[in-house]
Amino acid sequence: MSFTDQEIQQWADDYQDKSPQEVLELAFEIINEDIAISFSGAEDVVLVDMASKLGKDVGVFTLDTGRLHPETYRLLDQVREKYDVEIEAMYPNADQVEKLIKEKGYFSFYQDDHKECCSIRKIGPLRRKLGNLNSWVTGQRKDQSPGTRTEVPVIQIDKAFSGEGRQLIKFNPLANWSSQQVWSYIRSNDVPFNALHEKGFTSIGCEPCTRPVLPGQHEREGRWWWEEATAKECGLHSVANAK
Ligand code: ADX
Ligand code: SF4
Repeated sequence: MSFTDQEIQQWADDYQDKSPQEVLELAFEIINEDIAISFSGAEDVVLVDMASKLGKDVGVFTLDTGRLHPETYRLLDQVREKYDVEIEAMYPNADQVEKLIKEKGYFSFYQDDHKECCSIRKIGPLRRKLGNLNSWVTGQRKDQSPGTRTEVPVIQIDKAFSGEGRQLIKFNPLANWSSQQVWSYIRSNDVPFNALHEKGFTSIGCEPCTRPVLPGQHEREGRWWWEEATAKECGLHSVANAK
């Protein structure tokens, strides 16, 4: 199974104004197997709810960096139980983590920037998982980052993670939804959510690299706050960092 750039562009244009559920339906229609939701344990929980309501037997995986908040682990288990889904946790390579900690300690990202740690704890495991998939579904939204995500389409060829002779399609069904729309969906559908959201956290990543934001601050300001706004991508969604 392989699609041309034109086919993908056509779908991206046609589905630009459609609902996340319609984008998910398209995903299940054109990708017959080996498609999975990449679930961070934050407000992207709505994707699991939507897929479950569509009656689709979709895989769900999470990148367990080993540095997530306890609240995030709790939500992962709550979701597993409520939706009766297996959540596959992907772990970093133990040798690489041991070497990093031995040489640089637990908080090297505050001095070095987050790329080395993210590369070991997120990108490596993600690459391993995506190697077995035809497609992944993410909770990326345009409004999450004015600096880096304003162009996120609902469907794209994932050039960073496609392999030789193997095309990987990426769906971003929430791309055009605002944070308000996500939260209105969570409330009206009684979707379980991460308890950190009640403590001032808007965007949630790893514990040492996420902090609450003040009223009026953009959600991304709580992520890797010691770095420039344009560097606030860990490589999951940016070609430049993914190699
Ligand atoms: S990140 O690149 O800055 O970490 P962000 O937290 O905005 O990403 O989340 C955007 C989407 O990336 C999530 O909805 C999810 O699909 C995916 N993602 C981010 N972190 C993880 C994770 N730890 N496990 C699985 N998917 C993740
Ligand atoms: Fe490491 Fe922070 Fe990246 Fe998590 S977000 S993998 S702790 S640098």
